[in-house]
Amino acid sequence: MGNTIQVKDKTFAVSIPQEKILSEVKRVAAEINRDYAGKEPVFLAVLNGSFVFAADLLREVDIPCEISFVRLASYQGVSTTGEIREIMGLSVDVTNRPVIIVEDIVDTGLTMAHMLETLKKHNPSSVDICTLLLKPGKLQINLDIRYCCLQIPNDFIVGYGLDYDGYGRNTKDIYTLVQ
Ligand code: IMP
Ligand code: MG
Repeated sequence: MGNTIQVKDKTFAVSIPQEKILSEVKRVAAEINRDYAGKEPVFLAVLNGSFVFAADLLREVDIPCEISFVRLASYQGVSTTGEIREIMGLSVDVTNRPVIIVEDIVDTGLTMAHMLETLKKHNPSSVDICTLLLKPGKLQINLDIRYCCLQIPNDFIVGYGLDYDGYGRNTKDIYTLVQ
């Protein structure tokens, strides 16, 4: 089969080509340029997965802004809940400033819910979520996602920053697991 890749022990097929991703990234960046004109937002990109998306998104944002990169520290041994206790590397003062979280994918939504909760302790003036991908069929909670590039089915995907067991982040297209 054409357009497939092997990542470790699994086979993936192209599901979202680069051109489609980039046109949706441009669309969302235009929305942010319009909504955040004059507001000087702080983008907080959640590592590792969002590094490619953040790089493309930010180059389409043409209003004054800052970007910082954070990691979410999970509770040891409770990996399935996605519970976080800390935002690591929050080196910019977000007090009284509008924050836009840049995430690669929202699945159950639990990671973003905990991120919002923890971030609010730092007293930003507002917080919006900007995600590359959303799996609406997996969402477990009511989450207000203002910016979303693409909605996808419940399948496992890799590429364009997203990984399978640490591998597969370095592709231009997005690939779906072949069952
Ligand atoms: P949550 O379920 O919304 O809390 O998502 C937790 C994390 O799971 C995301 O930030 C991603 O890092 C990862 N994730 C969810 N779905 C996928 C996928 O299809 N491929 C790769 N990583 C995923
Ligand atoms: Mg992530």
